[in-house]
Amino acid sequence: MENLFTHPARLPLIAPSILSADFARMGEDCAGVLAAGADLLHLDVMDGHFVPNLTMGPDMARGLRAALPNAFLDVHLMVADPARYVESFARAGANHLTFHIEAVPGMAALQLAEGIRAKGMTAGIAINPPTPMEAVREVAAKFDLVLVMSVNPGFSGQAFIEETLDKTRRAREWVPGHVRIQMDGGISPTNADRVRSAGCDVLVAASAIFKKPPAARQGVIAQLRGDE
Ligand code: DX5
Ligand code: ZN
Repeated sequence: MENLFTHPARLPLIAPSILSADFARMGEDCAGVLAAGADLLHLDVMDGHFVPNLTMGPDMARGLRAALPNAFLDVHLMVADPARYVESFARAGANHLTFHIEAVPGMAALQLAEGIRAKGMTAGIAINPPTPMEAVREVAAKFDLVLVMSVNPGFSGQAFIEETLDKTRRAREWVPGHVRIQMDGGISPTNADRVRSAGCDVLVAASAIFKKPPAARQGVIAQLRGDE
């Protein structure tokens, strides 16, 4: 199977973050958003060190892979030591791993990207709102995706930080066109047009999708994509 980030059939991609799904009905909620037009599932992994919250680990990816064999699983590692989890997410069936430049700075990030690819996944590099884009400038072209965080990671349901649009806009000028730019945090139909115009081609949304009743999710996904 071609990787969705390197060979997207269409852009932008809409990536529901399962952090706001109903954890007691995870399979059902995820199958529902995929049927409603979402392109992939975004898994927010937090370790209580890199961010002040605990969420999920490889077992969630394994469960989703078993329930949804064709789903593209995009794993966002908000953890202090991402290298430690590459093997277990690969075995669990993840398609893509993103880790933070704040956790693995400089050229070490390139080595880790190679380690991720060696396990058959694509690799992304994420950057927090206070970190200047210069921190990823040297390495971004070597990744499949750059994730510009639009909230300080830790929790869903936070307000979108407007200043991050400018980072995306400027990054799109020098990040090679084949490298996806993803934004994550506070994205909703209210600001999705500005997020897309800034050059973001993978929009993550947790609460905007999962806090709506299932029947309304198809409409929200279409609005995020700019189809409505
Ligand atoms: C940030 C996470 C996000 C977050 C998005 O802590 O990486 O994926 O849950 O949630 P919303 O869309 O509700 O801001
Ligand atoms: Zn995320």
